[in-house]
Amino acid sequence: MTYLGLDIGTSGVKALLIGGDGTPLGEASAPAVEPVRPKPGWSEQNPADWWTAALGAIDTLKQSHPRELAAVKGIGLSGHMHGATLLGENDDVLRPCILWNDGRSAAECAEMEAALPSLRDIAGNIAMPGFTAPKIAWVRKNEPDIYQKIKKILLPKAYVRLLLTGEHVEEMSDAAGTLWLDVAKRDWSDELLGVTGLAREHMPRLVEGSAPSAQLKSDLAARWGMTGPVIVAGGAGDNAAAACGIGAIRPGEGFVSLGTSGVLFVSNEKFSPNTQGAVHAFCHAIPDTWHQMGVILSATDSLNWLSRITGKKQAELSGEAEAQFSGPGEEIFLPYLSGERTPHNNADARGSFVGLSQSTDTAQLAQAVMEGVTFAMRDCQRVLADAGTKIDRLLAVGGGSKSALWLKMLATNLDMEIAVPVDGDFGGALGAARLGLCAATGADPAQVMTMPPIRTTIAPDTALSAAYDQHYRRYRALYEGIEEARTL
Ligand code: XUL
Repeated sequence: MTYLGLDIGTSGVKALLIGGDGTPLGEASAPAVEPVRPKPGWSEQNPADWWTAALGAIDTLKQSHPRELAAVKGIGLSGHMHGATLLGENDDVLRPCILWNDGRSAAECAEMEAALPSLRDIAGNIAMPGFTAPKIAWVRKNEPDIYQKIKKILLPKAYVRLLLTGEHVEEMSDAAGTLWLDVAKRDWSDELLGVTGLAREHMPRLVEGSAPSAQLKSDLAARWGMTGPVIVAGGAGDNAAAACGIGAIRPGEGFVSLGTSGVLFVSNEKFSPNTQGAVHAFCHAIPDTWHQMGVILSATDSLNWLSRITGKKQAELSGEAEAQFSGPGEEIFLPYLSGERTPHNNADARGSFVGLSQSTDTAQLAQAVMEGVTFAMRDCQRVLADAGTKIDRLLAVGGGSKSALWLKMLATNLDMEIAVPVDGDFGGALGAARLGLCAATGADPAQVMTMPPIRTTIAPDTALSAAYDQHYRRYRALYEGIEEARTL
């Protein structure tokens, strides 16, 4: 018997097969259509494109691993969080999905908090434009015809689940990022739903991430050669799924992720809200477990931007930076290209390069970008510490963790050892596959969600610590100064 993890990412879909003992057997991926930005700060994607990419990735596995794919008994889903997929009559998609890194709804966030003063207590989180509910408040105000037609609202992976199974189901870790969930009770909140004029009927049914959610449709099972019932697990939002993949489920276990977004994630023994510093407090993907995270909106997406405007590939840029690196330079980059969540909760913040000179070259710009993202993660660590959270163990995941220089910057600035898994790039797919295994077999998640083999452990470079402390102070002061100038 085998299990399939499907990770619906912003930049592509990854499908990963694992065996009954959790060993990866094969993977395939298909790129997604890049998000469209109809206006500055907006970010949208067409749900049909996720489905095309998901089918593409699984069909590729059918070519490369037909026997292993045919033996699948459980599927787990992971997906980028918060996206508002609006469905009307007959599950028709009403408009492009408004994504996690879309900042259009700042005014609606303030209005929602004013309308329900207990919002932060129930949701455990600040109303931030990245979350789902404020996006619907925006649609209600700006696209009333579409709002009137809404029958169901799904997150990205629940939309893919709908096409896989025919059912509207969501699980706790992703539901926590909607701002409609009572995160402590792990149930939809009528009060929170009421703020956007919605009710439970607009929401999918809730299950735990490691529990069964529905069965794969028979025509799809036949397409991939699968026989017998194939259980689709609740799954997880991409961050909780990554945590399941690296075994971060006990208190104090965490990861730092350098993906399109950047995340500092830590598991908690209980629901631990702390809205100061825009800390996210969500359900984990396994029962009775919660987690906190600091989220920055442009991690590798910052390097992606530099790559677009210089015409050099991301790996080339980080390679150039590594080749000439001798410590922090003159240039400082603020990575707020899509606004920022943690710690500023400021959708209108924008990126900056400061300290440029005639001799600044692309290698130095790339180094400054990597340092700016590192400082943003250091900000996340600071506000998690302010919330009383201590991180005991940190693994690095995501595409950016392939860069040894970036890892050294992170270890030095977070002043922690960072362990790098042998295969750092499974993303949410491995955690999703493990959740699929749990749902199909009833296995205990604590036994299944183990730490992967570690390739290397990066220690802080203490020779650079003082210089980075000073550079970080400048970075923080720049945000204040630039914000003041921007809002004059
Ligand atoms: C988390 C968040 C991002 C997305 C992107 O709150 O918005 O990490 O899940 O994948």
